Amino acid sequence: MYAQMVKSEATNEDPEMLAAFQARIDAGERIEPKDWMPEGYRKTLIRQIGQHAHSEIVGQLPEGNWITRAPTLERKAILLAKVQDEAGHGLYLYCAAETLGVTRDDLTEQLLSGRMKYSSIFNYPTLTWADIGAVGWLVDGAAIMNQVPLQRTSFGPYSRAMIRICKEESFHQRQGYDLIRKMAEGTAEQKAMAQDALNRFWYPSLMMFGPSDKDSVHSTQSMAWRIKINTNDELRQKFVDQTVPQAKFLGLTIPDENLKWNEDKQGWDFSEPDWSEFYEVLKGNGPCNTDRIEARQKAWRDGAWFRDGLMGHAKKAEARRNAGRIAAE
Ligand code: 3HC
Repeated sequence: MYAQMVKSEATNEDPEMLAAFQARIDAGERIEPKDWMPEGYRKTLIRQIGQHAHSEIVGQLPEGNWITRAPTLERKAILLAKVQDEAGHGLYLYCAAETLGVTRDDLTEQLLSGRMKYSSIFNYPTLTWADIGAVGWLVDGAAIMNQVPLQRTSFGPYSRAMIRICKEESFHQRQGYDLIRKMAEGTAEQKAMAQDALNRFWYPSLMMFGPSDKDSVHSTQSMAWRIKINTNDELRQKFVDQTVPQAKFLGLTIPDENLKWNEDKQGWDFSEPDWSEFYEVLKGNGPCNTDRIEARQKAWRDGAWFRDGLMGHAKKAEARRNAGRIAAE
């Protein structure tokens, strides 16, 4: 069954090789960059890892917006550390993607031209300080739910990047929950801000897990290749089940009147996000899509002198090494 699925992706690749590759996947082996792999496997990894890396980098923008406005020095330091971590996460992931034969410049060019995505969640604005708590609590909470299983993904460099990233994500989520707890336990105005942030970030956070399984384009194949370990709906359900008690503990209300404990499944029944909104955001029509891409395009233009300087220095060093080699011969 797997060989047939893989073959459809692999076009004219040798069925024996495909079957042997799938047997490695099914045995839980790690695939390393120098191993043979079906072209479809490579392309899917470049797509998912590239978009994951872009999400880390673009995800810095909504939080970076509040570094100069953090209410205390401690909160400013925490937010600075988190935003810096996200840049590092992007770095690990771009490095993992580069082992598949694509350059970081290629991936950046595809992002800036709109041919590659980043997570929909980052197209929503952070309007108040409570939003920064909601981003850590809900967005990083959802990211952790999605990334922990990816530590067992079949591609070695991606798995190792995930192990490294997950260690830092836990701090991201805890600091967000701590922030929102302080507000929920604060004045009536602060609690109202925390509730408003939950109201605006709840459904966009559910969208982070991707469309429902019946509409997921890649899940079947990605799971056959153990690029993806769980389905979108499985992880969404786990996120809801984890988050509802946390909101209750804070005395905040999940903005979903259909939320109801289901004894049979031992989990919460909840309303699906508005998928038409999701697809509009993916098409570029979210509240902040234009701002986010323009910010990245400006950063790329403003950084050209630095990249040229680095390349110029590298070329000179290379020329000196070559001259030294020729002189030594
Ligand atoms: N935002 C943007 N695009 C999304 C999306 C989302 N929330 N969910 C799905 N999509 C896109 C997919 O990329 C795909 O489009 P494409 O073919 O052009 O790539 C299409 O919608 C269909 O979705 P599928 O379910 O078929 O796609 P996947 O199998 O790739 O599943 C995914 C989507 C669950 C996001 C999966 O790609 C994944 O697990 N990616 C790795 C984790 C990741 O990227 N997380 C993003 C957040 S990272 C983050 O939040 C950083 C943290 O530090 C804050």
